[in-house]
Amino acid sequence: MMYGEWPVTEQQQHAPTPGLENLLSEERRFSPPPDLATHANATSDLYAWANADRPAFWAEQARQVLTWDKPFTQSLDWSNAPFATWFADGELNAAYNAVDRHVEAGHGDRVAIHFEGEPGDTRTLTYADLQREVSRAANALTALGVSTGDRVAVYLPMIPEAVITMLACARIGAPHSVVFGGFSAEALYSRILDAEAKVVVTADGGFRRGAAAALKPAVDEALDKGPTTVNHVLVVRRTGQDTAWTPGRDVWWHEVVDTASDQHTPVPVNAEHPLFILYTSGTTGKPKGILHTTGGYLTQAAFTHLNVFDLKPETDVYWCTADVGWITGHSYVTYGPLVNGATQVIYEGTPDTPDRGRWWSIIDKYKVSILYTAPTAIRSCMKWGEQWPDAHDLSSLRVLGSVGEPINPEAWMWYHRTIGGERAPIVDTWWQTETGAIMISPLPGGTTTKPGSAQVPLPGIAADVIDDETVSVPNGSGGYLVLTEPWPSMLRGIWGDPDRYVDTYWSRFKGIYFAGDGAKKDEDGDIWLLGRVDDVMNVSGHRLSTTEIESALVSHEWVAEAAVVGATDETTGQAVVAFVILRGDATGASLPADEVAAQLRAHVAKVIGPIAKPRQILVVPELPKTRSGKIMRRLLRDVAEHRVVGDATTLADSSVMDLIAAGLATPKA
Ligand code: PRX
Repeated sequence: MMYGEWPVTEQQQHAPTPGLENLLSEERRFSPPPDLATHANATSDLYAWANADRPAFWAEQARQVLTWDKPFTQSLDWSNAPFATWFADGELNAAYNAVDRHVEAGHGDRVAIHFEGEPGDTRTLTYADLQREVSRAANALTALGVSTGDRVAVYLPMIPEAVITMLACARIGAPHSVVFGGFSAEALYSRILDAEAKVVVTADGGFRRGAAAALKPAVDEALDKGPTTVNHVLVVRRTGQDTAWTPGRDVWWHEVVDTASDQHTPVPVNAEHPLFILYTSGTTGKPKGILHTTGGYLTQAAFTHLNVFDLKPETDVYWCTADVGWITGHSYVTYGPLVNGATQVIYEGTPDTPDRGRWWSIIDKYKVSILYTAPTAIRSCMKWGEQWPDAHDLSSLRVLGSVGEPINPEAWMWYHRTIGGERAPIVDTWWQTETGAIMISPLPGGTTTKPGSAQVPLPGIAADVIDDETVSVPNGSGGYLVLTEPWPSMLRGIWGDPDRYVDTYWSRFKGIYFAGDGAKKDEDGDIWLLGRVDDVMNVSGHRLSTTEIESALVSHEWVAEAAVVGATDETTGQAVVAFVILRGDATGASLPADEVAAQLRAHVAKVIGPIAKPRQILVVPELPKTRSGKIMRRLLRDVAEHRVVGDATTLADSSVMDLIAAGLATPKA
């Protein structure tokens, strides 16, 4: 990892539009709305309570937000650090907590999911409906040979079956591994292999940008790559498109799930039983299978969902725009909201189909009161113009959330004014796949917010900003963001690789969790996130590894060497820019540079997925390297961001940067 480069990330902060500096300065403050200040779920005394005894605080939350089959008697066990257990002698079932207990409490008629398909079809699932659907799916998975402990891969569009499948797995204690539908067959294959999945749940396709996009062919291609542990592929018919079929292996959802019994008894599991694996990019080419277990994860997902969004389950309509392929979709679509008995919207498609007002029409139609989305989406909507939101009644909105990347103050202000009507507080929530749930965020009824800052660790969470010597930096200074105490929804490890878990997160600073983000403390001690300090990029809130994309590029026969950097991008936060050296004898060496770039972009899409396609690929004669052979990405980032190239004196050959500058005629893709 290139820790030494951290100040570079300050450039990743978006510069405000000239003239707005004053408006957007750190002095700008927004007090909580008076009604929230008096009626919010979370009050400021939560901080003191949690600080007095963190494990006791979380134990009390675990009792309040969850129903336990067997009550736990212990809270945190940190004696085998950094391997934690929480509530370890307790037993519970995640699906029972998310569904059945609400029906038992008399809320069976409450809407759990308002589904809106991209073509405009809709489906409403009450908690009683969900109980029947999840039970049927659990019976069907069992009939397909899935037992407690077996892994199930899920490769689905954003349709109710995605949530139903996750809960059906949880119901039988089979950890799910959801793979985002935008990942390629190859990426899916490596995840199926790593988790040794027994069944893959997929769909013929889904609707995106006004058309049916196929999904099942990628599963077929993945399973053709070599032997796997997969016995069955369970296929939802969503689009009705023609689908190749492998008899004996493939089964239709409507044939085996819809006909299964709707009675099923949830399997109580130990609090530390694996709930899911979710793969995320790290600093090496191989994605990490982040492991989350049941009791601690659900406690923090539900606690944060209740308090950070001030959820009132009887009256709110909540909408998180994330796909279940990401951690936000796990914690704040499937688990947090349903464990809290919320009513939520799930939307299948893109925000600009059939037009750029689609999101605002959904908010108007369902009277959404809590919206949780990513800065990249806010910036796109900002670019499209206020006429789209202005054409709809958004007065139902009362809390707005942001997640996935730093929100630039300008986007924050637009969200506040144009979407929130200057009424709805914004909660800028910092967390990660690894943290499982929100860690740093304002509380909507108690925190005076500042545009662009996630501000304060939640009650029960201990975070700090430290320097290279592990010393806490003074207010007004920057450094590395760390978490100094264990928390209930922390990852329990990396699937099959305990050493990598210790190395990646707990070795840089002894006994302290290193998040990989740069941050600064302002004069009040509030935390401002500055972006990643390692080789991880954040493109449209999606996490991508520079090394993984470099490996994809060099796997193409034309490429001799590749270096990838994340360059600041107005809309996507960062964009992937690749520098490649071609083999002298490769066909590509005699082709025009834009043709080479197009072919290599397509190759990256095939190996990883379309989300990883470089915005720009530059064919260069050399790469800047230190005498020890390390690529100096800092200099390449200067080139990609059109800056004067910084200090190049440590290069083995200082003329390399001139060579690169001379060859920069490649057009943008
Ligand atoms: O760099 C931080 C950024 O997203 C990273 C985690 O990515 P992922 O595991 O994909 O989870 C994204 C959704 C939780 C972090 O290391 N990040 C996330 N939220 C914020 C953020 N950066 C700044 N501000 C945030 N609110």
